[in-house]
Amino acid sequence: MRFLLLQLALVATWVLADDITVYTDTALAAGWENWSWGSDINFAATDLFEGTSSISVNSSAYSALSVKLEGTFPNYQGLRFDIAGAQPDLTITIQSSVDGTTSPNILLSALSTSITPDAFTSLLIDFRNLPGSGAALGNGTWDRITWQAGGNGDIYHIDNIVVVESIIIPPLFLSAEPLAANTIAVTTQGDVDFSTMAVSFNGQSVKILNTTSYTPVGTPSKNVTYLTLAQNFVPGTLLIDTGVPNGGNSTFNFTLPVVQYASFVQQVNYPISPLIYGVNFPTSASYIQDLGVTMSRWGGNAVTAYNPAGQFTNAGNDWYFENRVADPPDADDWVGWVQGAGSQTLLTVPALDWVSKDATSYSYPISEYPLQESTDPFLANAGDGLFPNGSYVTPVPDPTNVYTPWNTTMAKAWLKGLANKPNLVAIDNEIEIASNTHQDMHPVPIDYDEELARVLNFSMAAKEAIPGVQVAAPSTCSWWYYWTSSVGYTDNAAHDNIDFLPWFLMQMAEAEKTTGMRLLDYLDIHYYFQPDTSANDDAAKALRLRMTRSLWDTSYVDESWIGVSPQNHQWNPTVVSLIPRFRTLIDINYPGTKLSVSEFSSTADTDITGGLVTVDMLGIFGQQKLDSATYWATPDELGPIGLAYWLYRGFGVYFGANSAQVSLATPNPDTQGVYAATENGKLSVVIVNKNPDTPITFALANMPFGSYFMRHFGGEAGIAKWQTTVTISSIDYIVVPAYTAVFLKQN
Ligand SMILES: *[C@@H]1O[C@H](CO)[C@@H](O)[C@H](O)[C@H]1NC(C)=O
Ligand SMILES: *[C@@H]1O[C@H](CO)[C@@H](O)[C@H](O)[C@H]1NC(C)=O
Ligand SMILES: *[C@@H]1O[C@H](CO)[C@@H](O)[C@H](O)[C@H]1NC(C)=O
Ligand SMILES: *[C@@H]1O[C@H](CO)[C@@H](O)[C@H](O)[C@H]1NC(C)=O
Ligand SMILES: *[C@@H]1O[C@H](CO)[C@@H](O)[C@H](O)[C@H]1NC(C)=O
Ligand SMILES: *[C@@H]1O[C@H](CO)[C@@H](O)[C@H](O)[C@H]1NC(C)=O
Ligand SMILES: *[C@@H]1O[C@H](CO)[C@@H](O)[C@H](O)[C@H]1NC(C)=O
Ligand SMILES: *[C@@H]1O[C@H](CO)[C@@H](O)[C@H](O)[C@H]1NC(C)=O
Ligand SMILES: *[C@@H]1O[C@H](CO)[C@@H](O)[C@H](O)[C@H]1NC(C)=O
Ligand SMILES: *[C@@H]1O[C@H](CO)[C@@H](O)[C@H](O)[C@H]1NC(C)=O
Repeated sequence: MRFLLLQLALVATWVLADDITVYTDTALAAGWENWSWGSDINFAATDLFEGTSSISVNSSAYSALSVKLEGTFPNYQGLRFDIAGAQPDLTITIQSSVDGTTSPNILLSALSTSITPDAFTSLLIDFRNLPGSGAALGNGTWDRITWQAGGNGDIYHIDNIVVVESIIIPPLFLSAEPLAANTIAVTTQGDVDFSTMAVSFNGQSVKILNTTSYTPVGTPSKNVTYLTLAQNFVPGTLLIDTGVPNGGNSTFNFTLPVVQYASFVQQVNYPISPLIYGVNFPTSASYIQDLGVTMSRWGGNAVTAYNPAGQFTNAGNDWYFENRVADPPDADDWVGWVQGAGSQTLLTVPALDWVSKDATSYSYPISEYPLQESTDPFLANAGDGLFPNGSYVTPVPDPTNVYTPWNTTMAKAWLKGLANKPNLVAIDNEIEIASNTHQDMHPVPIDYDEELARVLNFSMAAKEAIPGVQVAAPSTCSWWYYWTSSVGYTDNAAHDNIDFLPWFLMQMAEAEKTTGMRLLDYLDIHYYFQPDTSANDDAAKALRLRMTRSLWDTSYVDESWIGVSPQNHQWNPTVVSLIPRFRTLIDINYPGTKLSVSEFSSTADTDITGGLVTVDMLGIFGQQKLDSATYWATPDELGPIGLAYWLYRGFGVYFGANSAQVSLATPNPDTQGVYAATENGKLSVVIVNKNPDTPITFALANMPFGSYFMRHFGGEAGIAKWQTTVTISSIDYIVVPAYTAVFLKQN
């Protein structure tokens, strides 16, 4: 983020040609309407202001200051405003009320982390380089701007809001980094001059053979230029001199380290499951195609109550147990268009006794349960089902207030009637915690036996309804519940002290013997890293980047409560070693079952480190033979997580289909990941450098010489993405810059 701020500071000059004023004093400017909600707003506040007044805002949880133009602002370049508050937790979006499109989320914290309550901070959002994602807003029928509060609500003042017609970008070299064997990737803004640029290795000048400029699709706020050098990089000092003052930093200086030895062996390989490049709820067919999404899931807490007859659902304890229209509404249509775009589908089948009966009812009206801990800020009568002391309200509501019965006959009829058949079905979602998430309709903790019975019954129904469909279950939420139930360890004790998922696998194996049918094709789990990285400071970022070791490393003691107080009966219980552990449990208890992770997260969807973690995870999934994976929730296509998918799969250029052996002399999994694949004899390689400020270098044995397609994201200039063709004529010294993921594929 510091690089974005630097860039903003240098963008301080802009012209006022046809700027559109939204607010200066007293009231919204002519043509702007107040579309705010759930907020106490004074458009003529005089307790803190510039000019004669400001807007003071007191928003409750998730509510917003929102303004709409009578007309549109399609081709503007930015939004400027002044804000004061105790670093409010705001998310800003630009929307089109005409066609419903919305910009990526822009976190106020991506613009500044030093907003104070007693003085205004001036901020500028560059629409060609949205803070956080680096994406361009693009042309659209934009007409609405929203500042939405976080879950704790927000109090702030805002003033001098202007939609800026044009931002003049001063020419600047933002970064210049060594990449691969003899390429320097330079990011620039504005109209820079390359003729003064000079490069030297250890004091010896090196000739620049050519420069090729590129404006990345989707992130056109920065140009990328590749300089091809006459010599390959060597260890020591690399000095790149821009030859101009360049805002004070006229040179970019690196110490290139001694090489690490690595070897690729394409002959030693095994297939990567094509289904590991998945997401939950992709947004469109072009999203699927741009990012090469192979598996799409319809899942999450709300689908437990999905009623296909009315296309209703219930939010459960995610949002005041309210019924609503499902989003997207029609599972059948969804399977159809997703498959039409080239992705397989995983459709969740409700497996409790109730589904939502309408789009409006809710389980805990204040009129019936006056004493509740909190109520929906947008629907004052809807409570959260908890007493102020946090325990569940009594009595349990009558489920028919909100729900209608559901059973296997209905599930079977629904699945049978689908015009578009899913490739996989999941038997519900995280029902081991239904007595919490859906306490209103299933207040009794689900034990081992009930969960098994529901999976057996609904799997049988699904297999009868859709011949050949694959079943994934039980979509368990987390490490704790892999091993026990909501009843607790007395339930384990009642089952010979066998932990839950191993017991579940044994029972499913037994069921195959008695029914003659495999009723479980994929053991499906959700995996969320347990270490706390929410501080997002340097230490938290480093932890985030190394905790991918929990996916595979049999010696990595988890840096969370798991590493401290295990309660299960597993071997090495302080080590997660997720994929090898579950492959072993499957081999022991129900061989032939596949393993899927239908929810996982980087823990930082808008941070570059989240993108690098996702690159590492996708590499590990392939290398460790995971069978299917879908990211939770939908990554922004142009954000860091989307870029990780783009790196492996963007626009039809794919990482190879077979994982090839990588031997590293110095593995360093805390700070680097190296993945190789082969397909039709062509090598592809992904290297992720997780160091925040030091390049890493490799000698890569068995890397064929020749032309490679290369793309990469990250680096010193923030979240930029670039691609080009490079020639590898030496494999003795390959450089990957700091905080960068690189993809190379033999042409
Ligand atoms: C703007 O909308 C908010 C939220 O609904 C409301 O509280 C406020 O009174 C409105 N202000 C004006 C001036 O209409
Ligand atoms: C903001 O609104 C809440 C809820 O209405 C109220 O309790 C609080 O006092 C308000 N804060 C300020 C600073 O106005
Ligand atoms: C957006 O509109 C402007 C002005 O009409 C045009 O110059 C530009 O090419 C458009 N950009 C895109 C991405 O369509
Ligand atoms: C990209 O480079 C071209 C040519 O130098 C320049 O005109 C343009 O302004 C640059 N774009 C950006 C966003 O810096
Ligand atoms: C730049 O020079 C290198 C080395 O001669 C060559 O391989 C490459 O194709 C050139 N690139 C362009 C765009 O001319
Ligand atoms: C110049 O580089 C220093 C050290 O890397 C950095 O702290 C500073 O922000 C840079 N300043 C500019 C104007 O680029
Ligand atoms: C570049 O870095 C090297 C090694 O730290 C140092 O010796 C040299 O003086 C630096 N050069 C410049 C111009 O900063
Ligand atoms: C919580 O509050 C409710 C209602 O006042 C009461 O009935 C219940 O006993 C309390 N529970 C605990 C654990 O204090
Ligand atoms: C499901 O409910 C319907 C309607 O009440 C009923 O006809 C059917 O027998 C039930 N199916 C099962 C398996 O209980
Ligand atoms: C599963 O099906 C059996 C046989 O129809 C039935 O007795 C049992 O109640 C069902 N279990 C659950 C949890 O629905």
